[in-house]
Amino acid sequence: MTSTPLQSALTSIPIDLVCALDYERLAPQFMAPPTLAYIAGGSGSGSSSAANRAAFARWSVLPRILRDVSHGHTRLKLAGVPVSHPILLAPVAFQALAHPGADIDSARAAAAVDATIISSTLSSFTVEQIARAAGGPHWFQLYFQPRREATMRLLRRAEAAGCSAIVATFDAVIQAPGHAALRAGFRLPPSCVAANLASEPAASALSALADGDSRIFQGAMRGAPTWDDLAWLLTQTRLPVWVKGVLHPDDARQLAAMGVAGIVVSNHGGRGLDGAPASLDALPQVRAAVGSLPLLFDGGIRSGSDIFKALALGADAVLVGRLQLYALAVAGALGVAHMLQCLREELELCMALAGCATLDQIDRATLWRQPA
Ligand code: FNR
Repeated sequence: MTSTPLQSALTSIPIDLVCALDYERLAPQFMAPPTLAYIAGGSGSGSSSAANRAAFARWSVLPRILRDVSHGHTRLKLAGVPVSHPILLAPVAFQALAHPGADIDSARAAAAVDATIISSTLSSFTVEQIARAAGGPHWFQLYFQPRREATMRLLRRAEAAGCSAIVATFDAVIQAPGHAALRAGFRLPPSCVAANLASEPAASALSALADGDSRIFQGAMRGAPTWDDLAWLLTQTRLPVWVKGVLHPDDARQLAAMGVAGIVVSNHGGRGLDGAPASLDALPQVRAAVGSLPLLFDGGIRSGSDIFKALALGADAVLVGRLQLYALAVAGALGVAHMLQCLREELELCMALAGCATLDQIDRATLWRQPA
């Protein structure tokens, strides 16, 4: 089904666009319904993406009075690197679905507000093009390819493009299509390609099935990476390697023991295992399992107080996924930059009224759990 947006992207920020969440409110005016269903939905029934949002509602931030926060700031060191705030752009595939400027616009926006972009293996522009647009820090999200040589080619291209970290994602080796997107008739338009993989052989050509084989186990999972592949990756690059898509504390412990640079606690925005817990609910256990290992978090971030809650429950910084696409659709690079600026100011407001001058003062004691 073709996806014709109802309205073209804005070139200025309207007066009624007052917070990051407004981009989610306005996105339906700028995206065709099937595209919106694909982006907004999770895998299968969407239970895990819904759980992500519900988890934030179970926590409140406790106001504190009379504290001097006039020296406050949002600076931190992320895996040893100084950054001015704890908000990064999550890797998001096929951004051209939201806006023709896609990852290039996202990278420019990130540069304008001092945020790091993590570009996807399945980006609409190549890692080289995105790195040029980013100018500053740019990380690359790596999906293992069925053949190691292809994975290696992506790794070397990211290194040569100047990426400063690799984020290997393992939680969505197969994605069950979202029921809402299927019902809406969503199909990836032929023009929407993964630019980095344009010269790689199609995956289907690599995995012909024999009679009686399962499409899942012997099909989609045949080329799926294992712990051995991650161990191999760690020997192949000097760049810090983060692993994205971790919810189980045992996996987190094993990753820490293997020497990863950090972990992204994530259920892929509810687009991996339908029925997985909310990322926020899994976060405290992962933090407890890995001590001071750097932890990023994503899944359901829509406001500065959501960021505050994730930091209080153990994250060092957060990634935003869907908000990035909504902002792109509404106002391109300007929208993404404005959305990130809104999030940062919302976080600062929340910190100030919670009596936290710096990020390291945000801990579990700053939150109040709603009665069940
Ligand atoms: C994603 N996500 C994702 N993750 C990843 O590692 N590589 C990818 O290519 C993609 N692609 C992608 C496409 C779309 C349309 C969405 C919505 C998400 C997951 C993403 O990085 C992040 O984990 C979630 O989006 C976080 O949840 P929120 O912020 O969208 O609620």
